[in-house]
Formats: sequence, structure tokens, C-alpha cells
Amino acid sequence: MTITIDQDTCTGCAVCTDVCQAGVIRPEQDGRPAVRDDVVGACIGCGHCEAYCPTGALLMRPAGASAPLAADTTLPPERLATYFMSRRSVRHYQPGPVPRERIEALLEVARFAPSGGNGQPVEWLVVHDPEQVRTIAGIVIDWMRGLSVGDHPMSGRYAGLVAAWDGGRDVICRGAPHLLIPHVPAGNPIAPTDAVIALTHVDLVAPAFGLGTCWAGFVAMASWTYAPLREYLSLPAGREPAYAMMLGRPRYTPARIPERRPLRVTWMERGEAEEK
Ligand SMILES: Cc1cc2nc3c(=O)[nH]c(=O)nc-3n(C[C@H](O)[C@H](O)[C@H](O)COP(=O)(O)O)c2cc1C
Repeated sequence: MTITIDQDTCTGCAVCTDVCQAGVIRPEQDGRPAVRDDVVGACIGCGHCEAYCPTGALLMRPAGASAPLAADTTLPPERLATYFMSRRSVRHYQPGPVPRERIEALLEVARFAPSGGNGQPVEWLVVHDPEQVRTIAGIVIDWMRGLSVGDHPMSGRYAGLVAAWDGGRDVICRGAPHLLIPHVPAGNPIAPTDAVIALTHVDLVAPAFGLGTCWAGFVAMASWTYAPLREYLSLPAGREPAYAMMLGRPRYTPARIPERRPLRVTWMERGEAEEK
């Protein structure tokens, strides 16, 4: 990673030295920031130095050109909260595929999701062909069929799902035209969480793109162990599926926000007695 500082536009405000989590940028005697060559290897490429520089004096490469932000990017909290709370799992989709460009625009947002150590390990498999989504649902049912007999803790639930499938209902992928499968390097203990965070960004931003999603838990569980599904997905060597999500254009629009359990919080703070 190369960090350059244009001393003509730098005002010496020292914000970059403060926000650099790796201590790569330090103030010189005159208060001007300078890159510490001895620790530059600790830079994780998070770009905070560039993002927070108020005059654009600092550039980090090889990252692409950073996008300038308008002065106020905040949204009214009530509006944003309502948007978040009105997201629903979509289990009824309009027929027909979503163009690749729209799905790419959605994934582009998830590209900016946080990742441990800014590792950015997430790559995507997009099952774009609705017929292949249907095939995957069938393979998951095969997996369930094997587990629906015997003493598997989910055997009763799986037997019901298999019966529903046999009765003509797609209880696995819900007739969604597409599936998103983020995949991560095998053996990386943080990466599966990174993938779930990225998928959560997709989940939350999808309605703004006129799209709906549903976490595909059964597809995910089968993809972790069931060889026929793993073969069908054919992820690159050394990559593991992290989760799966259905995607398409929703058939219905919610009109209300359903109730949820009340907030349960334990506040941990020093008691008055301790503070005295
Ligand atoms: C990890 C996870 C796995 C899920 N798996 C499935 C699934 O396989 N099939 C399904 O229809 N819904 C699935 N869901 C959706 C939940 O049932 C749904 O989030 C919950 O009922 C609350 O509804 P809401 O998302 O509309 O608020 C899953 C949700 C999560 C978070």
C-alpha cells in the first residue's frame, strides 16, 4: 500500500494521524503528517486516512479513487428506522429474472461492508438461472430426505418440508428466481462472519433497489456438508459457502410492521456505591 501526502494541500490538522488504526502516519516535528516507512507494513488498507482528510491531501494506492461525500450524508433517523424495520423476508416473488446489472448494483453496496482486519474475503456465486435455483432446492430436499428418518434433531421438521415439496410447494427457495451465495477462504475463522455481514447489507439495501430477499438457511446448511450440493455449486478450490440468500422482485408490499419481542437489555455499568 502506498500513501502519499500532498504537503501543499495538507493543513496539518492531524486527523489522519488520529484515525490511522495502525499508527502508520505520524506527526513530524512541525506537526505535518508523514508516513512511517518502518511500520507501513501494518497498514490494512482501510483508507480511513484518505476518507477523513478534509482537504483531500492524502491518497492511498492501489485502492481506486475514493468517492467524495456531500457535506451531510445523514438520513432522518425515523425514516431510516422505519426503512430497516419494514424489511421483510420475501417468500413470494414475481416471475422473471432480475437483470444482472441490478444484482451487481446491490452487491456493489455490500462490497463496502466491514470485514475483520479489512480482509475483504467475500466473493459471490450468483445463481442467476431460475431453473438452477429449482435444481438446488431439489438437492436440498434430497439432503433432508436422508435426515428425515432416524434421530436427527430436525428429522420431524425435515419430514414436513419433504412432504410439502412432494406436494408441489417449493419450501426451500420459495420460487425465488435467484440465489446469492457468498463464499470465503476455507479455514479463515473470521471470514464467515464477514460474509454474513455482507449478506446483511444486501438484505437491508435490497428494498431500495425494488428487490426482496430471504435468508436461505436450509440451502446454507446443506451447502456446508452435503457433497451433491457442494459438487453442484462447484465453488473454486479452497473456498467455502458461508450462507445463502434468495433474491427476486417481491410479489407483495408490506403495509405494516409486525410486532416483535420487547427489547431485552442488560446495562452493565458501575453502581453508585462503586463510584463513590
Ligand atoms: C439465519 C436465517 C435463516 C433463515 N432461513 C430461512 C429459510 O430457510 N427459509 C425461509 O423461508 N425463511 C428463512 N429465514 C427467515 C426467517 O424465518 C425470518 O427472518 C423471520 O421469520 C422473521 O421474519 P422477517 O424477516 O420478515 O422479519 C431465515 C432467517 C435467518 C436470519
